[in-house]
Amino acid sequence: MTAVADVRESDLQEYFDATIAHDRRIEPRDWMPEAYRKTLVRQIAQHAHSEIIGMQPEGDWLLAAPSLRRKAILLAKVQDEAGHGMYLYAAAETLGADRADLTDKLIERKQKYSSIFNYPTLTYADVGVIGWLVDGAAICNQVPLCRSSYGPYARAMIRVCKEESFHQRQGFELLMTMMRGTEGQQAMVQDAVDRWWWPSLMMFGPPDDDSPNSAQSMAWGIKRHSNDELRQRYVDMTVPQAAVLGVQLPDPELALDESTRRYRFGPIDWSEFKQVVSGHGPCNDERITRRRAARDDNAWVLEAATAYAAKHSA
Ligand SMILES: [Fe+2]
Ligand SMILES: [Fe+2]
Repeated sequence: MTAVADVRESDLQEYFDATIAHDRRIEPRDWMPEAYRKTLVRQIAQHAHSEIIGMQPEGDWLLAAPSLRRKAILLAKVQDEAGHGMYLYAAAETLGADRADLTDKLIERKQKYSSIFNYPTLTYADVGVIGWLVDGAAICNQVPLCRSSYGPYARAMIRVCKEESFHQRQGFELLMTMMRGTEGQQAMVQDAVDRWWWPSLMMFGPPDDDSPNSAQSMAWGIKRHSNDELRQRYVDMTVPQAAVLGVQLPDPELALDESTRRYRFGPIDWSEFKQVVSGHGPCNDERITRRRAARDDNAWVLEAATAYAAKHSA
């Protein structure tokens, strides 16, 4: 009996390995190793949580947007992020995860979200800088995920990336407008850039020699490029944009390496990253407290909608 089961299991593993080797997609109906499933659930949940928590720093400015036009743009952007969270929770559900359970894990701090959303948004220039730098970094991270080996995740990323590119442009356009404005507005932009530049570099995660799970994720086709490679791409993409805007990136070591045509940059403060990602950043408590309140205060909506749906299907 066990022999038959063993053969089956090894056949399934072989089929899975061949699918990955041929760069084809794994779909929810397919057999997959438990570790692959768990890694994906963790990564997709972390990604979904980041989209949802990421609504907060910018959401703070919805009622204080400087014009109706800016309010409409920001509202559309924040709603997009909610949508991204929903696609991603749905992708996690295809792996057998439960959405409410994932939210509970976020609130109980058993699952992480991107460290970047634990920094405060002090002025409206932060809205522009988040669009430009944070969504810009998200694009660098997510475009390769459109080729992730897990079908539902890869397909969700295609739409998400299209929307992220709108987010990045609206941020850049807002900053361009402010840079054509008064000296005070220009100073606001520079101040926001000074505060967000280094945290945006940390969005790619720890350096490759301190990223123990990366090799396995690359072998499974979940991850396509290393953290350091993606970070470098982001720097190379962003430095010329900063020049167009007319802002200084706060790194005296930033310089073009003539031989590689890539930008060298100064050392990242990884102790800050570790502090923030482990729950001790400037806004971690506020973000989680608010998410918990949203879950608890709105539980009746979910209950009512579920009851209504059940009544309808009966
Ligand atoms: Fe997003
Ligand atoms: Fe975005």
